[in-house]
Amino acid sequence: MQPETPQCPSFDGIVLQTERLRLRPFQERDAQSILALFTDKGFMEYASAPMFQSIEEANAVVARDAAKRAAGERLRLGIERLEDGAIIGYCDLFNIDRDCLKGEIGYGLLTKECGLGFMHEALSAFLHCALHVLQLNRVMAEIDPANTNSEKTVQRLGFTKEGHFRENCIVNGVVSDSVFYGLLRRDWESREIRYRHPQSLGPGPAPHSVKCPQIGADPGPKPCYHGDCSVLRF
Ligand SMILES: CC(C)(COP(=O)(O)OP(=O)(O)OC[C@H]1O[C@@H](n2cnc3c(N)ncnc32)[C@H](O)[C@@H]1OP(=O)(O)O)[C@@H](O)C(=O)NCCC(=O)NCCS
Repeated sequence: MQPETPQCPSFDGIVLQTERLRLRPFQERDAQSILALFTDKGFMEYASAPMFQSIEEANAVVARDAAKRAAGERLRLGIERLEDGAIIGYCDLFNIDRDCLKGEIGYGLLTKECGLGFMHEALSAFLHCALHVLQLNRVMAEIDPANTNSEKTVQRLGFTKEGHFRENCIVNGVVSDSVFYGLLRRDWESREIRYRHPQSLGPGPAPHSVKCPQIGADPGPKPCYHGDCSVLRF
């Protein structure tokens, strides 16, 4: 008898919460915030699609995301700052292959919100969800090597650089390379253990100073997933 392939649970109702952020699906009332993201020059600099021209394109994101979520094909969560409820960016999981238990991530923030550790905090929760709640085994990220901030972000999260493809993209006539980073569930688990037991780090560079509650000095209870409220607390 063939071993049963683990199934990803539904993407509906997934909301993640960290110390400063809530990650939740975009809703109709977010259309202006989505438009602000997709017209932000810094945010769009390394995007593979052109800048948005109208609010209709933002509304289409909300509708398309809902359909893809319901079909279990894509999980994009807007990043809402708890302090003021502002949408400052998103994390995205797409190209999901349920047979091979793998997927690809995308992410981005408004330019004025970069450099404050928000993406590390958001992706810490998002990756935990992808690898443990949705039970993927592998997550990858494709990055333009000119985007050093993005490479630093995935490196700090424990991704391994797995390849460099020359002249892999042409966007608006501009040719660029791609670097590919991968993170396995076992990489992430060993990283969680490292963070939980900083004394076991051994020689090597100190961990980045990001103070994610998941990885704080006090290990606290393990992150948990409540099926009814679908909130992961870190
Ligand atoms: C790439 C991108 C998502 C990184 O976002 P970010 O929030 O700055 O990333 P991190 O969470 O990893 O940020 C850590 C940085 O914040 C700094 N920082 C400041 N306060 C901090 C805090 N309280 N906690 C953690 N880091 C903090 C860190 O020192 C670090 O800066 P450094 O990279 O100069 O060392 C963002 O630059 C972006 O949206 N760019 C445009 C879109 C894009 O490129 N998307 C990715 C396409 S592949």
